Amino acid sequence: MDSTWSTRQVLSTFLDFYRERGHALLDDATLIPPPGDPVLFTSAGMHPLTPYLEGRAHPLGRRLTGVQRCLRTTDLDEIGDDTHLTMFQMLGSWSLGDYGGTQSLRWGYELLRDGFGIPAGRLHVTVLDGDRDTCETWQRLGVPIEALGEDDNWWSNGPSGPCGPDSEIFVWTGDGPPTGTPSSDRRWSEVWNHVMMRYRRHPDGTLGPLRQPGIDTGMGLERMAMVLQGRSTVFDIDVFEPWRRSVSSLWSPSRLVYDHLRASVVVIGDGVHPSNTGRGYVLRRLIRRTLSTLWRVDPSRTLADLPVEPIGSTVEHHGLTVDPRYVLDVLLYEERRFAALLRRGRPLVERLVARGPLTDDDLHYLHDTHGIPPDLVEEMLTAGRE
Ligand code: SER
Repeated sequence: MDSTWSTRQVLSTFLDFYRERGHALLDDATLIPPPGDPVLFTSAGMHPLTPYLEGRAHPLGRRLTGVQRCLRTTDLDEIGDDTHLTMFQMLGSWSLGDYGGTQSLRWGYELLRDGFGIPAGRLHVTVLDGDRDTCETWQRLGVPIEALGEDDNWWSNGPSGPCGPDSEIFVWTGDGPPTGTPSSDRRWSEVWNHVMMRYRRHPDGTLGPLRQPGIDTGMGLERMAMVLQGRSTVFDIDVFEPWRRSVSSLWSPSRLVYDHLRASVVVIGDGVHPSNTGRGYVLRRLIRRTLSTLWRVDPSRTLADLPVEPIGSTVEHHGLTVDPRYVLDVLLYEERRFAALLRRGRPLVERLVARGPLTDDDLHYLHDTHGIPPDLVEEMLTAGRE
């Protein structure tokens, strides 16, 4: 496909399309959820809009668009595959009790085909089996459909809250003509999800209708850029270029290192400091996983060698106001702390391991008496020595 699309152009093309169709632009994209929200980080574009999808009037109206930074730590083990990122940007469009699913899908099709220039023959969708309106809309547009169950085509953001059937849109990324379906051929890459928010899951697990049905769509920006830039992994798109250039000349290229460092930069830029609890602990884990990965190969590696340029480019791309040098200082401070903890803790862990596999009592002892949490014990056993 046309490889001249920059990530920035993908972003502006999406937002302009919806603004031209009466959607107000949301301008707050921080990873930190609104006060009183129980989650640590925003993990979906719709997350800050939850009360409005449930019926509260939004000050900007009933049609909204925006781009939201998201952080997902549930798939940390998938980092390193072609498409998962710990921190990513999600483009979104929302109807808060305004238009319905048919309009949303039609606009979606129009934007993909005419806005992004994706040939109609490279599209495929999945729908919830039995969702007649959605099926009819796609049939009229001539897009092939795969009907799946609730595991694939029902969206909710956690155990309670607004939810409903969704329709996922896939683009063919293979070299030859499209074959198979999204669930049978991985070369169908999911780029966009349209959720028909019709229900609310109550805390007791029951499902009720939403007073005001709405639409929530989310498109992974980096993944869409990957498709439009003709790349086979998100790590090859333009926004990773400064990371690739700096990191690969220092250390052998590692997707986890790019991913976790870039995510850490944004988390620090959104005002989080490393700590032993909550958000700060997630940040600490990201930095420690990066260091463990680097030290496993060569314990003399240090983030002090990292130039400020890729940090600056990430700060700028996300419109953060933090000084990139301050971000690097935070990373280096954490590196020193982690190295000191490993120096102090490793002999203790090794002494216990010499006696046999670690028991729960050993893990409690290390945690309660020496401040070494279980996940760090694992890292100590694998991270390089100084
Ligand atoms: N909430 C849906 C998702 O995150 C669509 O925005 O995929």
